[in-house]
Amino acid sequence: FHLAPKEDVSYAFEGPVGHWDIAQLQRGYKVYKEVCSACHSLNLVAFRNLAGLGYSEAQIKAEAASWQVPGIDPDTGENVSRPGEPTDYFPSPYPNDVAAKAANGGKAPPDLSLITKAREEGTHYVHSLLTGYRDPATFALSNGESLTEEFPDYEVPPGTYFNPYFPALAIGMPPPLTSAGQVTYDDGMDASIDQMATDVSAFLTWTAEPMLIKRKQTGWPVLGFLLLATLLAWFAKKQVWAPVK
Ligand code: HEM
Repeated sequence: FHLAPKEDVSYAFEGPVGHWDIAQLQRGYKVYKEVCSACHSLNLVAFRNLAGLGYSEAQIKAEAASWQVPGIDPDTGENVSRPGEPTDYFPSPYPNDVAAKAANGGKAPPDLSLITKAREEGTHYVHSLLTGYRDPATFALSNGESLTEEFPDYEVPPGTYFNPYFPALAIGMPPPLTSAGQVTYDDGMDASIDQMATDVSAFLTWTAEPMLIKRKQTGWPVLGFLLLATLLAWFAKKQVWAPVK
């Protein structure tokens, strides 16, 4: 029973001959940086990994420096923040889990590095979640019944937001994408809410599996080799058994 089936947006990286849409990944990165990073870290991704998004070494240096990461003052030993370097990882906006929970009504925003892998149909899940906030009063279940008619006692728990794509139905994350043009894209793409959700879902697919395309491409020579080996085995068998009547 699905409350709401995930929306099936199509992406360039899907299918056996998929490829990364680099422009889309760059747009998605911008959405992450300007919106999601206020609450979510990407602590398995280093700035240097942005090379995979087509950025040059100089661009990566500049990009890293535009982030503040936790550091230690070499003289006083105190915790300070300093501009990032290519070898640093995308930082958490909170010093620790307690602070993360305190700032978000008791629910810590999870690290997003692997979220598209950790959830079923993760790419589509993230897109659907971001565009899926609904008014529970008018929400229709997939069997056509209204939620409030079917479950008259249902109330959205305080401090949470109704979202039928979240397993608990109500999520501690306020809708992060609320208006078109929230992010200004460098490539001139129209930043509708749907576009931003699509792009950041693609970006988070890349963070979770940067070698996705390489993995798929490796399959072709492997198939070719197996075909050749099968033919060879077939002819060898014919040859070996030829004298036997
Ligand atoms: C949870 C994505 C922005 C606060 C989540 C989840 C995802 C997500 C995929 C996890 C759902 C799960 O566990 O299955 C994003 C994306 C964002 C974004 C892509 C940017 C477009 C924000 C912002 C805030 C925030 C700006 C803070 C104001 C939270 C919190 C949770 C959460 C508190 C945990 C909710 C719970 O467990 O109930 N987010 N998020 N997120 N996010 Fe975000």
